[in-house]
Amino acid sequence: MEIKIFDTYEQMGQFAADIIEETMKSKDKPILGFATGATPISTYNALIEKYREGKISFKSVTSFNLDEYCTIDRDDKNSYYTFMHENLFNHVDIDEKNVNVPCGNPENVVEYCKGYDNSIEKMGGVDVQILGIGRNGHIGFNEPSDSFTMGTYKVELTQSTIEANKIYFPNEDAMPRQAITMGIGTIMKAKKIILLANGESKAHAIHDMVKGDVSPKCPASVLQNHPNVVVILDKAAASLL
Ligand code: F6R
Repeated sequence: MEIKIFDTYEQMGQFAADIIEETMKSKDKPILGFATGATPISTYNALIEKYREGKISFKSVTSFNLDEYCTIDRDDKNSYYTFMHENLFNHVDIDEKNVNVPCGNPENVVEYCKGYDNSIEKMGGVDVQILGIGRNGHIGFNEPSDSFTMGTYKVELTQSTIEANKIYFPNEDAMPRQAITMGIGTIMKAKKIILLANGESKAHAIHDMVKGDVSPKCPASVLQNHPNVVVILDKAAASLL
């Protein structure tokens, strides 16, 4: 793992966007893996800026998002589909037909999840996957557990995740308890991974990810086994390293 530590959240986003720009320029049809949440917003802002400056175009990009909540509609203001449109897709020239955010409420979950993984594979795999990290060490919505789940699947969110994300919902009861997420195997197949974390609340998870044993108790620790990971941190998130 290559670890980069920055003074500001904006610098983190700029650095991540520079890597993504490089990948986009090196491929005719780049496949980008996106994450939601507070962490990647400065990266998305930097990508929008690069697009406005004419440095990059998303015309030939295909995107695959990590996850989506179950039980809410894709047009709900808290869906990850909406998040991606508001924070990136509506501001660049990506073709909507090349946008893939998992459906949170598929009729046949097993078939749907298999199909999501197959679509990624058919496109030749994700060239660069952006990840945030949960305070509990989750990546995507792969929560701490006794084993790694490899493919995309439906997961029960843990109390730690509900506590962290309920602030976006009118009340705790409105927060979905389940999500569809890329599995650990799906994430690990990405050719390059950029994991971003800022703030003290992520320091323990970052410590366990980098210095702990590779264990499903800290799902992000599996990234120790990936050959091409860049970890982009601020000083607070790096404070226990
Ligand atoms: C989001 C995702 C999650 C978040 C993580 C951190 O698509 O998969 O793993 O990256 O929960 O969330 P923030 O960035 O809001 O702290």
